[in-house]
Amino acid sequence: MVENLNIDFLIEKAKSVLKNSYAPYSGIHVAAAILTRNGNVFLGVNVENASYGLTICAERSAISAMITAGEREPVAVAIVTDLDKPIPPCGACRQVIAEFNPETTIIMHSVKTGKTIIRNLKELFPNPFSLERK
Ligand code: THU
Repeated sequence: MVENLNIDFLIEKAKSVLKNSYAPYSGIHVAAAILTRNGNVFLGVNVENASYGLTICAERSAISAMITAGEREPVAVAIVTDLDKPIPPCGACRQVIAEFNPETTIIMHSVKTGKTIIRNLKELFPNPFSLERK
């Protein structure tokens, strides 16, 4: 389980890059901060495109940063947004996070209202696609 200290710390880390979100089409700004087993933090923001379907979510941006740095084990992901309500990761991002740890703690936070919701990825996404046949 991720401690309170880490929850607030991770939310602050994600907030620190929220201004860098590139979202001229939806106007919805999202940032993600991943805490890894080694205690390192990787950040990402959503990156939209004029060809809308090419948009990359904040969570997958952060996963790419983590993998690029040579790490493979997320323990918690904080997702912050400027919307009224905290947002859960989209289905694609759930699958991508589950690839590395299906029991990742997911922290969802609205900077507008200060509301935080915490769930485990296994509750949000109980049956990830996997090539392991069990
Ligand atoms: N978005 C994310 O960054 N993460 C999610 O989990 C859901 C959606 C972004 C993508 C797009 O730029 C905007 O939110 C609206 O869909």
